[in-house]
Amino acid sequence: MRAGWYERTGPAADVIRTGEMETPKPGAGEALVRLHASGVNPSDYKRRANANVAPEFPRVVPHSDGAGVVAGLGAGVAGLREGDRVWVYNAQWRRAMGTAAEYVCLPARFVKPLPAGASFIEGACFGIPAMTGYHAVHVARPVAGRTVYVPGATGRVGAYAVQFAKWRGARVIASTGGGPDRIEAVRALGADVVLDRRAPDLEARILAETGGRGVDHIVEVNLPANMAFDERILGEGGSIVSFGAASAPSVPVTQTGRRARNMGLHFIFVYLLDDATFSATCAGINERAAAGGLIHRVGGVFALADLAKAHDAAEKATGTGHFVVEI
Ligand SMILES: NC(=O)c1ccc[n+]([C@@H]2O[C@H](COP(=O)([O-])OP(=O)(O)OC[C@H]3O[C@@H](n4cnc5c(N)ncnc54)[C@H](OP(=O)(O)O)[C@@H]3O)[C@@H](O)[C@H]2O)c1
Repeated sequence: MRAGWYERTGPAADVIRTGEMETPKPGAGEALVRLHASGVNPSDYKRRANANVAPEFPRVVPHSDGAGVVAGLGAGVAGLREGDRVWVYNAQWRRAMGTAAEYVCLPARFVKPLPAGASFIEGACFGIPAMTGYHAVHVARPVAGRTVYVPGATGRVGAYAVQFAKWRGARVIASTGGGPDRIEAVRALGADVVLDRRAPDLEARILAETGGRGVDHIVEVNLPANMAFDERILGEGGSIVSFGAASAPSVPVTQTGRRARNMGLHFIFVYLLDDATFSATCAGINERAAAGGLIHRVGGVFALADLAKAHDAAEKATGTGHFVVEI
């Protein structure tokens, strides 16, 4: 099969190779999927780029997310048939073989039906980005009738968080550091209020939008950068869910003060959800996608032969959407 891989870590152009390798065979409990699209996520390029840490395996075929067609089943797999259109997640999580290849074998529980109206390219965005966005909205109390604040709403995860929060009946205040185009893009996702996150009056605007109460739930893309701000705009009994910490490994939290009372602080890591949460998350994404209710912000589509270019583009861009490899 055709595949892309790296055998040492470093810059994409230096370490990523594409070529032929042996097609895997499904073991017990596994499905073989003929992939048509493979999603590039920060975890994929961060692991590959970190030249201080050796690859987890002698050869890594990167990427956790993808979509394609079931091409074979190992013993004991129920609920899937050859020819089914599917999306997959966690393919390269703690495993050598991910989705940057024509075929992948993976535990059947990581293989989900792809709704009829969804393309393979869209299905390749359902894994890390949509699952994180969905879980971030659902991890605390139900958001119906509450106000959710989503900074980083142009992001792969943030854009889904906006859409799932709206679907679940929240009022969504979102922000972006970009210009009018980005503000318009976030409005198109359904956010009720879209603000400039760099504006000096951001705090006052958010408090004014909530009648001074503060928001009920914050889906935070960069907790170290924003915690002090979030504490000022969070309503009593509200919650913050952190899925990103790009700017620092730790963050001070103020325990005193009115807004911290009964505050919920959640940290999520999408690869390690429990089985019930995985199931509910995948089912929710499929329900919304089947109804045609999801906008997928695809920023670029690359051929498998250009895998290194796809990594480079994903690494350099932020807030421009998903980078997908077509196979
Ligand atoms: N915990 C998990 O399971 C999990 C899952 C997926 C991703 N992640 C992590 O989450 C982070 C984001 O991933 P992604 O794929 O969504 O990235 P992305 O598509 O690049 O989105 C990041 C967004 O954050 C915004 N942003 C940048 N700096 C910000 C700041 N200081 N405050 C508020 N917003 C800011 C940018 O938008 P504007 O410039 O338009 O504001 C951008 O749209 C990465 O670090 C990734 O590794 C974690």
